[in-house]
Amino acid sequence: MITSSTVFEQWATAHQQRAEQALASTLPSADTQPERLHAAMRYAVLGGGKRVRALLSYAAAELVGAPASSADAAAVAVELIHAFSLVHDDMPCMDDDDLRRGKPSCHKQFGDATALLVGDALQALAFQCIADTHAPQALKQVQILAQATGSRGMCGGQDIDLHSTGKRLSRDALETMHQYKTGALIRAAALLGAYAAGQTEEKHLTLLNQYSQNMGLAFQVVDDILDATADTHTLGKTAGKDALQEKSTYVSLLGIDEAKALVTTLYEQTLQSLAGFDQQADSLRGIARFICERPF
Ligand code: IPE
Ligand code: IPE
Ligand code: MG
Ligand code: MG
Ligand code: MG
Repeated sequence: MITSSTVFEQWATAHQQRAEQALASTLPSADTQPERLHAAMRYAVLGGGKRVRALLSYAAAELVGAPASSADAAAVAVELIHAFSLVHDDMPCMDDDDLRRGKPSCHKQFGDATALLVGDALQALAFQCIADTHAPQALKQVQILAQATGSRGMCGGQDIDLHSTGKRLSRDALETMHQYKTGALIRAAALLGAYAAGQTEEKHLTLLNQYSQNMGLAFQVVDDILDATADTHTLGKTAGKDALQEKSTYVSLLGIDEAKALVTTLYEQTLQSLAGFDQQADSLRGIARFICERPF
């Protein structure tokens, strides 16, 4: 029987592969000078990761009726920024994680200095990738991505995270931290995909903003839950580190059951917000479900 979840799985696999190919051809080859840096960049980006942010860009393009090809640059750019954030997040001065996507993290494999440069170079490449489209909407996309990446987005959230270790944050402060460190890039992924079409309708932007508000938070709450409940092999990163490092998470603040209940509420709110849209929003529905029910 072909169910809607089989249709979504097929769509997701096809678009994950599409993103993988686009990333592989955007990254300089490992025999381009400086070879070691390029090998490290490819190591950090390719052959791993769920590609949720790329999928969101493609799903948002679908929502507005644009072909996947129009969203390739957006999908690549958000995955490059995400990979940069992971490389730096794992470094000894941040979360000090040895394992990422089932293999040694970038600094374990290539050293701290190279990992630092990998992050820097991936960030620059992300913006270049959008600029290289020469599309009229590229400036808008650069603006959205820059805001989501910088001190009022991912980097800001990472700063709050690092300075909240060992403290008990209020629920509002914790939500702000999660919206910054993770929600901002999820939102950018969706908006960049929609803007790729050139023209954007207000009703689509409103929907995507609402969707990302809920799913950006849900994504990080699920990450917090999985850190406490899943095993290292399944996650491909060291489990149980948040408690060990006394991170402020939804699990430490609310406990696992309440954190799970919050994810269910966010999922239901998201489905409700999508109710007025037909099958053009099916991929967004599928991604929401995947974000909330994923095992890793
Ligand atoms: C992990 O993100 C870091 C967070 C923002 C929670 P993902 O769970 O999307 O990592 P990959 O890309 O699939 O490895
Ligand atoms: C990181 O959150 C969010 C980023 C911006 C990279 P975490 O530190 O919880 O991510 P993981 O668990 O290491 O993937
Ligand atoms: Mg972290
Ligand atoms: Mg981490
Ligand atoms: Mg985590």
